[in-house]
Amino acid sequence: MALRAIRTYGDEILTMKSKPIKELKDRFKVLIDDMLDTMYDAGGVGLAAVQVGVLRRIVVIDISPEGDEPYVLINPEILETSGEQTGYEGCLSVPGKQGTVTRANYCKVKAFNRDMEEYIIEGEGLMARALQHEIDHLEGEVYVDKVEGELLDSAALAEMEDEDTEE
Ligand code: NI
Repeated sequence: MALRAIRTYGDEILTMKSKPIKELKDRFKVLIDDMLDTMYDAGGVGLAAVQVGVLRRIVVIDISPEGDEPYVLINPEILETSGEQTGYEGCLSVPGKQGTVTRANYCKVKAFNRDMEEYIIEGEGLMARALQHEIDHLEGEVYVDKVEGELLDSAALAEMEDEDTEE
């Protein structure tokens, strides 16, 4: 297990486009393992390779509560989107912040797994949001630029939600 340093917003690399993987060399397999370790350690549900400083089209996602359903997406491509959802979104590269982003509510993606076999992954709600958010990273886009209104402190947001539930 190895953790890699997460690049934060303002780092120029996060604005750069990632390159496709042609052959999954050993160093990329190590990278995928490290990305999963780094994502779980930081308590995130998704991570793109660029966030650990590697400009390659690799994404890991795990939205399961137990954190035991990791998806590895190599060279992911969005095939289809539909519907709309508006909700809070965060990013490991923008620690302690959240903002409101509108995204498609359904997303269907073609990608390669860690054995370089092509597969289809689709999801609604949070999964669709994670897919779109992570694939944006590969294009050099960070969600901050899509936020409607203000970027909020997660701590302040949690307090607001607590007040809501206390009533
Ligand atoms: Ni992110």
